[in-house]
Amino acid sequence: MQLADNPITKIILEKLKHKDFRNLNHLIFDEKRSSEFQYELLDLKIDITRQSLDKEIKEDLINLAKETKIKKKISELISGVKVNLSENRSVDHFSLRKEERFKTQEWKKLRNFVQNISSKNNFKHIVNIGIGGSDLGPLMVNKALKSFYKVPDILYVSNIDPTKISEIFVKCNPKETLFIVTSKSFSTLETLENAKIVAEWLSKHKVSLNYSMVAVTSVRKKALDWGFKDSNIFEISENVGGRYSLWSSVGMSIFIGLGEDNYKNFLLGARTMDEHFINEEVENNIPIILALLRIWNRNFLNRNNHCIVPYTDNLSKFPAWAQQLEMESNGKGVDINGATLKMPASPIIWGEVGTNAQHSFFQFLHQGLEVSPTDILVPRKPLSTICFKGSEKNHEYLLINAIAQAEALARGSVDLINQNKNFLGGRPSTIISWEENTPFYIGMLIALYENITIASGLLWNINSFDQWGVELGKTIANKISNDKNDKDLTPAAKKFLNQK
Ligand code: F6P
Repeated sequence: MQLADNPITKIILEKLKHKDFRNLNHLIFDEKRSSEFQYELLDLKIDITRQSLDKEIKEDLINLAKETKIKKKISELISGVKVNLSENRSVDHFSLRKEERFKTQEWKKLRNFVQNISSKNNFKHIVNIGIGGSDLGPLMVNKALKSFYKVPDILYVSNIDPTKISEIFVKCNPKETLFIVTSKSFSTLETLENAKIVAEWLSKHKVSLNYSMVAVTSVRKKALDWGFKDSNIFEISENVGGRYSLWSSVGMSIFIGLGEDNYKNFLLGARTMDEHFINEEVENNIPIILALLRIWNRNFLNRNNHCIVPYTDNLSKFPAWAQQLEMESNGKGVDINGATLKMPASPIIWGEVGTNAQHSFFQFLHQGLEVSPTDILVPRKPLSTICFKGSEKNHEYLLINAIAQAEALARGSVDLINQNKNFLGGRPSTIISWEENTPFYIGMLIALYENITIASGLLWNINSFDQWGVELGKTIANKISNDKNDKDLTPAAKKFLNQK
């Protein structure tokens, strides 16, 4: 059942004709709202008091989720039913953060390899070559948990742009660098071209490929054909989608960086969120509540974008990672059965670190005519490893700014004399906070966003696990590589390609 066909959708749309959420002040000063619009899971706190809805609509949205039988669908998905119909696949990334994984051959091979290179300490640099889901997750976690990382230095190469790979050649010693070629399909142009350049560089410096390169893929045969020996190939299941794959061997660089204990804590944080997602009733289920707000803002209040602002430099890559996660998963035009969607799915996801963003696009958030629902993410304490005098004060400024912006967005301010200083207010935000940027809480936060994405997809009744939309551009690029005058190209494209 599509969202538009859900009987509760019609009820809510009817009620909305008689409700006005452009001004939030009558709601946000209500003392009771704190208990009814705030949620907690251990030290993770979610505050939706500044969202543009009242208690009645929240209850309707909960009923809407129940009407879709969302809890049953989550159980089916996690138990291995093939919900990715267009690719005839199940969704297996949840099993990668379960304890049972530690008994599998996949885990043992990965752990032995990581332990081996860590104890020998032969490599001063680790370079992950991959793109999209084979890059963004590990890169984001690398930055998020940098202070927990032990040597060696970990670098990421994604783009086909030669600039990055040439920086690696300047910075790294070929005899002391491990390259992880990460490609689920082992057919991604950017990754394979970059890997080829690296293999040539190594050979020029008389370093054998299988000493300095390993592959992570779900197509073992392709990696073997490429020249990798079997023991250097780390497999991921084809049922783990690229953008959900950082928990698999795709996250080898995370494991190397964190070491086993911290890596297991990272998985435990995610597992704790999964258990909540599976077991908690809809009323208090944080990923489902936040997914309902995605739908509420997108489809009922017609807000076509969603902004993510982490108030911690550690999460500087989080908006880019979440952008792939949500927009590749839910940027769909048809439902699970291939019928055209009657109501649009994924909003545009964008964002940047705060407070930096306050000195940039927050002008738009406060006074632009388009409304951007905003997630404000903030650890409540500075990292215990940061010890310069006054660091607490700096961190307090982060917290103060985070709350000040949420208040300003929601409350607004009227200036009857100077319209330039008028703030309409009524701009919704959710504050997500946790104690400290530890592996456990970063794991929990990542799993939260994954589960919001999945729950939203279930409410829209779309397939959040395929990505056919990326294929057409790749096909045309292939054709052009073979023939710049391909008969299907437009005259403008031919002119562009043939200019000197
Ligand atoms: O082009 C999109 C995409 O297929 C993503 O879904 C994926 O994360 C990325 O490319 C990289 O794919 P692979 O891991 O197969 O190289």
